[in-house]
Amino acid sequence: MFSKYLVALVGVFGVCNARSTANLFKKDSCQPDPKLCPLGVVSCTAPNLDSCCASSVGLHVMTMGWYSKTGPADKFTIHGLWPDYCDGSWPPNTGCDDARNYDKIACTIKEQRPLLYNDMVRYWPSSSGDNEDFWLHEWNKHGTCVSTLNPKCFNAPAKNGVDALEYFDMTMKYFKMWDIYSSLEKRCIVPTANTTDPATQVTYSVAQIKQALREDFGAEPALFCNNGTLNEVSFYFFTKDNFEPVFTFPRANDTCKTVAYINKY
Ligand SMILES: *[C@@H]1O[C@H](CO)[C@@H](O)[C@H](O)[C@H]1NC(C)=O
Ligand SMILES: *[C@@H]1O[C@H](CO)[C@@H](O)[C@H](O)[C@H]1NC(C)=O
Ligand SMILES: *[C@@H]1O[C@H](CO)[C@@H](O)[C@H](O)[C@H]1NC(C)=O
Repeated sequence: MFSKYLVALVGVFGVCNARSTANLFKKDSCQPDPKLCPLGVVSCTAPNLDSCCASSVGLHVMTMGWYSKTGPADKFTIHGLWPDYCDGSWPPNTGCDDARNYDKIACTIKEQRPLLYNDMVRYWPSSSGDNEDFWLHEWNKHGTCVSTLNPKCFNAPAKNGVDALEYFDMTMKYFKMWDIYSSLEKRCIVPTANTTDPATQVTYSVAQIKQALREDFGAEPALFCNNGTLNEVSFYFFTKDNFEPVFTFPRANDTCKTVAYINKY
Protein backbone atom coordinates (compact mmCIF):
# COMPACT_ATOMS: atom_id res chain seq x y z
CA MET A 1 0.00 0.00 0.00
CA PHE A 2 2.64 2.39 1.16
CA SER A 3 5.11 1.61 -1.62
CA LYS A 4 2.36 1.51 -4.24
CA TYR A 5 1.62 5.09 -3.35
CA LEU A 6 5.25 5.99 -3.70
CA VAL A 7 5.58 4.43 -7.12
CA ALA A 8 2.45 6.16 -8.31
CA LEU A 9 3.63 9.50 -7.04
CA VAL A 10 7.22 9.48 -8.20
CA GLY A 11 6.28 11.40 -11.32
CA VAL A 12 4.40 14.04 -9.43
CA PHE A 13 7.01 14.45 -6.76
CA GLY A 14 10.06 14.30 -8.96
CA VAL A 15 10.02 18.07 -8.91
CA CYS A 16 9.72 18.20 -5.14
CA ASN A 17 12.57 15.79 -4.69
CA ALA A 18 14.80 17.88 -6.88
CA ARG A 19 14.04 21.21 -5.34
CA SER A 20 16.25 22.46 -2.61
CA THR A 21 14.91 22.71 0.89
CA ALA A 22 16.18 26.28 0.74
CA ASN A 23 13.18 27.05 -1.43
CA LEU A 24 9.95 27.98 0.18
CA PHE A 25 7.29 25.38 0.28
CA LYS A 26 3.96 26.41 -1.01
CA LYS A 27 0.62 24.95 -1.69
CA ASP A 28 -0.18 23.12 -4.92
CA SER A 29 3.30 23.26 -6.37
CA CYS A 30 6.90 22.55 -5.57
CA GLN A 31 8.10 25.92 -6.75
CA PRO A 32 8.71 28.86 -4.45
CA ASP A 33 6.09 31.52 -4.73
CA PRO A 34 6.94 34.88 -3.15
CA LYS A 35 3.28 35.88 -3.34
CA LEU A 36 2.28 33.08 -0.99
CA CYS A 37 5.41 32.99 1.10
CA PRO A 38 7.15 36.33 1.53
CA LEU A 39 10.92 36.14 1.20
CA GLY A 40 13.27 36.90 4.05
CA VAL A 41 10.90 35.87 6.83
CA VAL A 42 12.50 34.34 9.92
CA SER A 43 10.49 31.70 11.78
CA CYS A 44 8.90 32.89 15.04
CA THR A 45 8.94 36.54 13.90
CA ALA A 46 5.68 36.48 11.93
CA PRO A 47 3.01 34.76 13.99
CA ASN A 48 0.32 35.10 11.35
CA LEU A 49 2.34 33.63 8.53
CA ASP A 50 0.94 30.54 6.82
CA SER A 51 2.42 27.49 8.54
CA CYS A 52 3.49 26.20 5.11
CA CYS A 53 5.83 29.19 4.64
CA ALA A 54 7.77 29.00 7.92
CA SER A 55 7.37 26.36 10.59
CA SER A 56 5.03 27.51 13.32
CA VAL A 57 7.06 25.25 15.60
CA GLY A 58 9.92 27.48 14.59
CA LEU A 59 12.72 27.24 17.15
CA HIS A 60 14.99 24.44 15.99
CA VAL A 61 17.42 22.39 18.00
CA MET A 62 20.00 20.43 16.05
CA THR A 63 21.66 17.90 18.33
CA MET A 64 24.79 16.06 17.30
CA GLY A 65 26.34 13.32 19.36
CA TRP A 66 29.79 12.07 20.20
CA TYR A 67 28.91 8.49 21.02
CA SER A 68 31.31 5.68 21.83
CA LYS A 69 31.76 3.17 18.98
CA THR A 70 29.25 4.97 16.75
CA GLY A 71 29.89 6.45 13.31
CA PRO A 72 33.19 7.65 11.84
CA ALA A 73 36.01 8.18 14.34
CA ASP A 74 36.42 11.76 13.11
CA LYS A 75 32.81 12.92 12.88
CA PHE A 76 30.07 13.72 15.30
CA THR A 77 26.82 11.98 14.33
CA ILE A 78 23.24 13.21 14.19
CA HIS A 79 20.84 12.72 17.04
CA GLY A 80 18.08 14.79 15.55
CA LEU A 81 16.54 18.04 14.42
CA TRP A 82 13.94 19.04 16.96
CA PRO A 83 11.39 21.79 16.42
CA ASP A 84 10.38 23.62 19.61
CA TYR A 85 7.68 26.23 20.02
CA CYS A 86 8.79 29.81 19.68
CA ASP A 87 8.51 30.40 23.45
CA GLY A 88 11.08 27.63 24.08
CA SER A 89 8.60 25.00 25.24
CA TRP A 90 8.38 21.84 23.23
CA PRO A 91 5.74 19.64 21.62
CA PRO A 92 4.51 16.44 23.28
CA ASN A 93 6.57 13.24 23.18
CA THR A 94 4.00 11.81 20.80
CA GLY A 95 4.91 14.43 18.22
CA CYS A 96 2.56 16.73 16.37
CA ASP A 97 0.57 14.53 14.02
CA ASP A 98 -0.26 10.93 14.89
CA ALA A 99 -1.83 10.52 11.47
CA ARG A 100 1.57 10.88 9.84
CA ASN A 101 3.48 8.44 12.00
CA TYR A 102 5.16 5.70 10.00
CA ASP A 103 6.10 2.23 11.13
CA LYS A 104 8.59 1.56 8.34
CA ILE A 105 10.88 4.00 6.57
CA ALA A 106 14.32 2.52 5.79
CA CYS A 107 13.35 0.87 2.49
CA THR A 108 11.55 4.00 1.36
CA ILE A 109 14.64 6.12 1.97
CA LYS A 110 16.85 3.55 0.27
CA GLU A 111 14.64 3.30 -2.80
CA GLN A 112 13.73 6.94 -3.15
CA ARG A 113 16.97 8.64 -2.09
CA PRO A 114 19.86 6.19 -2.11
CA LEU A 115 22.52 8.85 -1.51
CA LEU A 116 20.62 10.17 1.49
CA TYR A 117 20.26 6.62 2.75
CA ASN A 118 24.03 6.05 2.56
CA ASP A 119 24.62 9.31 4.39
CA MET A 120 22.12 8.35 7.08
CA VAL A 121 23.71 4.97 7.67
CA ARG A 122 27.04 6.72 8.02
CA TYR A 123 26.15 9.90 9.87
CA TRP A 124 22.83 9.14 11.56
CA PRO A 125 23.38 5.69 13.03
CA SER A 126 21.71 4.51 16.20
CA SER A 127 24.21 4.24 19.03
CA SER A 128 22.35 1.41 20.66
CA GLY A 129 20.13 -0.49 18.29
CA ASP A 130 18.22 -0.47 15.11
CA ASN A 131 18.70 2.47 12.72
CA GLU A 132 15.16 2.25 11.39
CA ASP A 133 13.65 2.43 14.89
CA PHE A 134 15.85 5.42 15.66
CA TRP A 135 14.92 7.26 12.44
CA LEU A 136 11.23 6.49 12.92
CA HIS A 137 11.38 7.81 16.46
CA GLU A 138 12.97 11.05 15.26
CA TRP A 139 10.37 11.45 12.52
CA ASN A 140 7.32 10.53 14.58
CA LYS A 141 8.29 12.58 17.62
CA HIS A 142 10.02 15.55 15.97
CA GLY A 143 9.70 15.56 12.19
CA THR A 144 5.91 15.68 12.30
CA CYS A 145 6.27 19.04 14.09
CA VAL A 146 7.90 20.79 11.11
CA SER A 147 4.74 22.50 9.90
CA THR A 148 6.18 23.22 6.45
CA LEU A 149 6.44 19.49 5.81
CA ASN A 150 2.74 18.92 6.22
CA PRO A 151 1.62 17.29 2.96
CA LYS A 152 -1.03 19.98 2.57
CA CYS A 153 1.84 22.38 1.88
CA PHE A 154 2.75 20.58 -1.30
CA ASN A 155 -0.61 19.10 -2.04
CA ALA A 156 0.50 15.55 -1.38
CA PRO A 157 -1.64 12.85 0.13
CA ALA A 158 -0.80 12.07 3.72
CA LYS A 159 1.33 8.98 4.30
CA ASN A 160 3.19 8.90 1.02
CA GLY A 161 6.55 9.28 2.76
CA VAL A 162 7.72 12.47 1.10
CA ASP A 163 7.30 14.48 4.30
CA ALA A 164 9.66 12.17 6.21
CA LEU A 165 12.19 12.06 3.37
CA GLU A 166 12.24 15.85 3.30
CA TYR A 167 12.80 15.95 7.06
CA PHE A 168 15.75 13.56 6.88
CA ASP A 169 17.17 15.41 3.91
CA MET A 170 16.91 18.79 5.63
CA THR A 171 18.55 17.44 8.78
CA MET A 172 21.39 15.94 6.75
CA LYS A 173 21.96 19.29 5.03
CA TYR A 174 22.34 21.05 8.38
CA PHE A 175 24.65 18.31 9.58
CA LYS A 176 26.93 18.78 6.58
CA MET A 177 27.08 22.52 7.18
CA TRP A 178 28.38 22.09 10.73
CA ASP A 179 31.43 19.89 10.98
CA ILE A 180 32.08 20.09 14.69
CA TYR A 181 35.00 17.69 14.68
CA SER A 182 36.94 19.68 12.06
CA SER A 183 36.19 22.95 13.72
CA LEU A 184 37.58 21.70 17.01
CA GLU A 185 40.52 19.94 15.38
CA LYS A 186 41.60 23.16 13.65
CA ARG A 187 42.01 24.62 17.12
CA CYS A 188 43.87 21.60 18.46
CA ILE A 189 40.90 20.31 20.39
CA VAL A 190 41.04 16.61 19.58
CA PRO A 191 39.77 13.45 21.22
CA THR A 192 42.13 11.81 23.62
CA ALA A 193 42.62 8.42 25.20
CA ASN A 194 39.97 7.26 27.64
CA THR A 195 41.60 7.25 31.01
CA THR A 196 40.09 7.84 34.40
CA ASP A 197 43.51 8.68 35.83
CA PRO A 198 43.21 12.35 36.68
CA ALA A 199 46.98 12.74 36.33
CA THR A 200 46.90 11.91 32.64
CA GLN A 201 43.35 12.73 31.53
CA VAL A 202 43.16 15.65 29.13
CA THR A 203 40.19 17.95 29.59
CA TYR A 204 39.04 21.05 27.77
CA SER A 205 37.06 23.90 29.20
CA VAL A 206 33.49 24.55 28.15
CA ALA A 207 34.52 28.08 27.16
CA GLN A 208 37.33 26.78 24.94
CA ILE A 209 34.99 24.49 23.01
CA LYS A 210 32.23 27.07 22.70
CA GLN A 211 34.69 29.71 21.53
CA ALA A 212 36.02 27.38 18.83
CA LEU A 213 32.55 26.65 17.51
CA ARG A 214 31.46 30.25 17.70
CA GLU A 215 34.41 31.29 15.54
CA ASP A 216 33.33 28.91 12.80
CA PHE A 217 29.56 28.90 13.02
CA GLY A 218 28.82 32.27 14.59
CA ALA A 219 26.94 30.67 17.45
CA GLU A 220 27.52 28.88 20.68
CA PRO A 221 25.86 25.55 21.26
CA ALA A 222 24.88 23.93 24.55
CA LEU A 223 27.28 21.15 25.59
CA PHE A 224 26.08 17.99 27.27
CA CYS A 225 28.31 15.57 29.14
CA ASN A 226 27.87 12.19 30.78
CA ASN A 227 29.95 12.10 33.90
CA GLY A 228 32.30 14.75 32.54
CA THR A 229 32.63 13.16 29.11
CA LEU A 230 31.36 15.05 26.06
CA ASN A 231 28.20 13.40 24.75
CA GLU A 232 26.13 15.91 22.74
CA VAL A 233 26.22 19.39 21.23
CA SER A 234 23.02 21.32 20.46
CA PHE A 235 22.68 24.38 18.25
CA TYR A 236 19.53 26.51 18.49
CA PHE A 237 18.24 28.46 15.53
CA PHE A 238 15.30 29.97 13.75
CA THR A 239 15.04 29.53 10.03
CA LYS A 240 14.94 32.16 7.31
CA ASP A 241 13.10 31.24 4.13
CA ASN A 242 12.44 27.90 5.71
CA PHE A 243 15.99 26.59 5.68
CA GLU A 244 18.72 29.14 6.27
CA PRO A 245 19.68 28.98 9.95
CA VAL A 246 19.48 32.10 12.09
CA PHE A 247 21.22 31.11 15.29
CA THR A 248 19.93 32.00 18.72
CA PHE A 249 21.15 31.28 22.23
CA PRO A 250 20.68 27.78 23.68
CA ARG A 251 17.54 27.33 25.75
CA ALA A 252 19.16 24.52 27.72
CA ASN A 253 21.95 24.75 30.27
CA ASP A 254 25.24 22.99 29.68
CA THR A 255 25.70 19.83 31.66
CA CYS A 256 29.49 19.87 31.17
CA LYS A 257 31.79 21.56 33.68
CA THR A 258 35.08 20.47 32.21
CA VAL A 259 35.05 18.33 29.13
CA ALA A 260 36.77 15.02 28.59
CA TYR A 261 36.60 14.45 24.82
CA ILE A 262 37.37 10.80 24.38
CA ASN A 263 38.26 8.73 21.32
CA LYS A 264 35.24 6.80 20.07
CA TYR A 265 37.19 3.66 19.30
C1 LIG B 1 36.04 4.90 29.39
O1 LIG B 1 36.57 3.79 30.02
C2 LIG B 1 35.80 3.32 31.12
C3 LIG B 1 36.58 2.23 31.81
O2 LIG B 1 37.09 1.32 30.89
C4 LIG B 1 34.44 2.85 30.59
O3 LIG B 1 33.64 2.40 31.64
C5 LIG B 1 33.76 4.02 29.91
O4 LIG B 1 32.54 3.61 29.33
C6 LIG B 1 34.67 4.60 28.84
N1 LIG B 1 34.06 5.81 28.33
C7 LIG B 1 33.88 6.04 27.03
C8 LIG B 1 33.22 7.32 26.68
O5 LIG B 1 34.25 5.26 26.16
C1 LIG C 1 32.69 9.01 36.52
O1 LIG C 1 34.04 9.44 36.37
C2 LIG C 1 34.84 9.18 37.53
C3 LIG C 1 36.22 9.83 37.32
O2 LIG C 1 36.49 10.17 36.00
C4 LIG C 1 34.94 7.68 37.73
O3 LIG C 1 35.72 7.39 38.86
C5 LIG C 1 33.52 7.11 37.92
O4 LIG C 1 33.57 5.72 37.99
C6 LIG C 1 32.62 7.51 36.75
N1 LIG C 1 31.26 7.13 37.04
C7 LIG C 1 30.50 6.51 36.14
C8 LIG C 1 29.10 6.22 36.56
O5 LIG C 1 30.91 6.20 35.02
C1 LIG D 1 19.40 27.09 33.65
O1 LIG D 1 19.97 27.42 34.88
C2 LIG D 1 19.38 28.54 35.51
C3 LIG D 1 20.20 28.89 36.75
O2 LIG D 1 20.40 27.74 37.51
C4 LIG D 1 17.93 28.24 35.82
O3 LIG D 1 17.31 29.34 36.42
C5 LIG D 1 17.21 27.89 34.53
O4 LIG D 1 15.88 27.51 34.82
C6 LIG D 1 17.92 26.78 33.79
N1 LIG D 1 17.33 26.63 32.49
C7 LIG D 1 16.91 25.47 32.02
C8 LIG D 1 16.33 25.48 30.66
O5 LIG D 1 17.01 24.43 32.65
